[in-house]
Amino acid sequence: MSEAVGLYLEEAKRSSYGHKLRQMQELAIRDPENFWSEVARNLYWFKTWDRVLEWNPPFARWFVGGLINASFNCLDVHVRTANRNKVAIFWEGEPGDRRVLTYMDLWREVCRFSSVLRDLGVRKGDRVAIYMPMVPELPIAMLACARVGAIHSVIFSGFSFEALATRIRDSGAKVVITADGGYRRGKLIQLKKTVDEALAKTSSVQSVIVLRRTGSDVEMREGRDFWWDDLMRGKSLDSQATPLESEHPLYILYTSGTTGRPKGVVHDTGGYLVWLYATMKWVFDIRPDDVYWCTADIGWVTGHSYVVYGPLLHGATSVMYEGAPDYPAPDRWWEMIERYSISILYTTPTAIRMHMRFGEEWARRHDLSSLRLLGTVGEPINPEAWRWYQRVIGGGRCPIVDTWWQTETGGIMISPAPGIELVPLKPGSATLPLPGVHAEVVDENGKPTKPYEKGYLVILGPWPGMLTTLWEDPESYKRIYWSKFGHNNSLNFHFNPPAVYYTGDYAMKDDDGYIWLLGRADEVLKIAGHRIGTTEIESALVMHEAVAEAAVTGKPDPVRGESIVAFVTLKPGFKPSDDLRVELIKWVRRTVGSIASPSELYFVSKLPKTRSGKIMRRLLRAVVSSTPLGDVTTLEDETSIKEAMEAVELLKKAMMNNRTADSS
Ligand code: WTA
Repeated sequence: MSEAVGLYLEEAKRSSYGHKLRQMQELAIRDPENFWSEVARNLYWFKTWDRVLEWNPPFARWFVGGLINASFNCLDVHVRTANRNKVAIFWEGEPGDRRVLTYMDLWREVCRFSSVLRDLGVRKGDRVAIYMPMVPELPIAMLACARVGAIHSVIFSGFSFEALATRIRDSGAKVVITADGGYRRGKLIQLKKTVDEALAKTSSVQSVIVLRRTGSDVEMREGRDFWWDDLMRGKSLDSQATPLESEHPLYILYTSGTTGRPKGVVHDTGGYLVWLYATMKWVFDIRPDDVYWCTADIGWVTGHSYVVYGPLLHGATSVMYEGAPDYPAPDRWWEMIERYSISILYTTPTAIRMHMRFGEEWARRHDLSSLRLLGTVGEPINPEAWRWYQRVIGGGRCPIVDTWWQTETGGIMISPAPGIELVPLKPGSATLPLPGVHAEVVDENGKPTKPYEKGYLVILGPWPGMLTTLWEDPESYKRIYWSKFGHNNSLNFHFNPPAVYYTGDYAMKDDDGYIWLLGRADEVLKIAGHRIGTTEIESALVMHEAVAEAAVTGKPDPVRGESIVAFVTLKPGFKPSDDLRVELIKWVRRTVGSIASPSELYFVSKLPKTRSGKIMRRLLRAVVSSTPLGDVTTLEDETSIKEAMEAVELLKKAMMNNRTADSS
């Protein structure tokens, strides 16, 4: 353990580390309602709540009776103070263009754009789909929705038309906000074209607003499509934030689960903002003079919570970047840290491993001494990457907050909390739960496991940042998250009645009570920290005319955490070939998006299934990762797994031969 991160573990134990943290934990446990109302008082409420919590497991309503608005708390409260001219966003486009937006600038744009939405007939509760590159207009669009009480549904711009159409259809969005394109690694991404393809498959959308970003030619449909700048022209600033009930949905964010249909995670306004306010302070110890950079794309939850709402609630100065980390050269990030004197960097283990590959000389070219705190999120971080991050980027000086959380939890749940008290860090562990988070590791029967025993990570609910439901699907919400362990009385809890939230993650505790995350326990993949459901890729594959059945699994990848491997059976009349393999991979990329693109695809004559017909992806995962198969008693036909093994071996051999041929 490096001295730089605060304390040596042994020394720390002697000095009874964690005293302050424990004190906060106890306060939160003893009187959660009082604890959370203290935090909530830091926000602006048009009307104070009557009750902190109404809990009908698993449905929670936080700050019942309170009236609040997210856009007001992110902007109006700051423009009324000396912070009005403080920089809210330092933005850089990938080609190198730059913009600086103060709180006043952002407030103006949001007011005007919210008038645009109102004029288009957008009302409280309407859904607005946002499909944009990482430009300031993306948070502006979100905050404008929040201002009028419309529910935004941001769709990651790397998703393609099928994924976009599914999400638009499910939410019944009335308006889509997009751009004529975006830049990624020097290439133009045709967002509007994808929107047009998606809209051909949906019927709810009445208007499309198109931002000019790249100047590309796009088709504009008369009466439906409008340019952003045309609509904004002459719009007045007089657009008051609508006071909304605390439980009013702020947004829907679709995330992958174990079914083909993505889940529409719904977050409320009051509880969610309270959670973000608290975690920004505890985890990032955010201060007025910080320059904070969360590298996440706003299309994922990390961007919603820690690029947009969290930092703005605190009136912080953030950096936002449009493009790829290695464009035009691998030191783009380090150059930016030097340029803006960034003090907090929050990123993913995949990004760190990628930079490790480029080599530390790229970071060495720049002065990174402004950094004081580093963070990671999205996937387990291997100790080697942790140490590199700390030594090369943090100069051996900066603590690392390894933050565990999920789209569903709204904000960070398990993480070091230097804003309260820095506990000794252990590379690879997210350390301890934050105050008010009751995390346990349990076995199949819901009993807490012994130290170092692998089990399921569960959270005892409720907590203010939690999802409130799945969009128009409360039954799935109950079943997916709250039914596996039910009302478990062997776990002690302060809320009555207690309910056990199932995270879908494996974890273990060590004998200091530190939590180590051990990956997903379900069919969800983590590709470069992004959550992709195997079934979503399978559904895309079977939409191709040649494919009869498909099974998708993940394989460990040294940089991206996991890579996607697909097994397919073909319909009669179609034959396996290299051309078809390439075509199917392209097909997935075109319909779902390039992040869902399989890195390996095998043709087999049958898939391994149980006698009841369920595909045994667990076995395929073992085959592709060359690990033991484990229990195969439920397998219906053993030749299926043999065939998969042979297919994998064959490709390996072919690749080896190619390599030898190349080098000779
Ligand atoms: C994984 C991202 C290990 C985990 C914020 C979780 C992590 C899923 C960590 C949620 C971490 C997130 N260490 N694993 N620090 N953070 N995960 O919804 O499997 O995109 O369930 O939210 O990411 O992914 P999601």
